[in-house]
Amino acid sequence: MTQDELKTRVGQAALAYVLPGSIVGVGTGSTVNKFIDALGTIAGQIKGAVSSSIASTQRLQALGIEVFDASEIDELAVYIDGADEIDHAGYMIKGGGAALTREKIVAALARQFVCIADASKRVQTLGGFALPVEVIPMAARRIAKQFAAMGGMATLRVKAGGPLVTDNGQHILDVTGLKILQPLAFEAEVNNWPGVVTVGVFAFQKASVCLLAADSGIQTLTFKPAS
Ligand code: 5RP
Repeated sequence: MTQDELKTRVGQAALAYVLPGSIVGVGTGSTVNKFIDALGTIAGQIKGAVSSSIASTQRLQALGIEVFDASEIDELAVYIDGADEIDHAGYMIKGGGAALTREKIVAALARQFVCIADASKRVQTLGGFALPVEVIPMAARRIAKQFAAMGGMATLRVKAGGPLVTDNGQHILDVTGLKILQPLAFEAEVNNWPGVVTVGVFAFQKASVCLLAADSGIQTLTFKPAS
């Protein structure tokens, strides 16, 4: 099965976590696009969605799904999103699609984070995938030096010949060379650096469940809450 087919399957499988009449938290990325397409088939059975990016909002609206602003919502039953890496405890690296800040905000509203991924995303230790960090542009150089001091190499993400600008008007640093052995401590530390908007380690907002697609079928992994 191709990776695209695995994404389609896991996107469809996530419908099992959508409560009829509810507002669903929706992430961003190619796997989530498959989930959004599946959600479109039951658009009449849900109240709507809270979206984590302009791209997902546009896709949801094109399918007739009403999109609510996160600031209007007290709580969501479920947030469904992909990941760039997920470990044995449900800690993740996210932000490959540059939507990490809004993803973390919407995830924080949800009682349950359902991660949908193909089996290639499962890792022993986070850090193989270059860690995305959304930063205020004037702080980028200094933040890159702070990563260098911990053995990482930060590169400014570019698009169409200039720095990529996120939905929040900020920039992304992608950091290679890190082994993130203590995701909670790492997330807390980096989030404290001046100019960091969001670090792409999702430890405080880790997955509750991961639907992992492989040729053999979809495996459901469940995780203890972050402590
Ligand atoms: C976007 C994300 C995505 O969830 C992550 O990059 C996975 O994307 P894909 O499903 O395309 O592999 O964090 O910011």
